[in-house]
Amino acid sequence: MEIKVCMGSACHIKGSPNIARKLQALLKENGLDKKVDLRGSFCMGPCNRGVVVTVNGKAFYHISEDNVEKFFYKEIFKRGEEN
Ligand code: FES
Repeated sequence: MEIKVCMGSACHIKGSPNIARKLQALLKENGLDKKVDLRGSFCMGPCNRGVVVTVNGKAFYHISEDNVEKFFYKEIFKRGEEN
């Protein structure tokens, strides 16, 4: 599974480095860090909907420090268990 966190300037201002750190910690906590490739990305385009995170190419918008954990369990943890 591949996760990309937008590190473009608009998403960066909205806290994407913290989102990436938090995702990394959650992956580790849940034993998925070896299965999931987490990387940063250049601006993905929809800057006004950031922070943008993609999971296997599917984009999710408005990811924040408040909802990243919920996002992780809903969109990443379940799939990580499957593959
Ligand atoms: S900076 Fe993230 S979509 Fe443009």
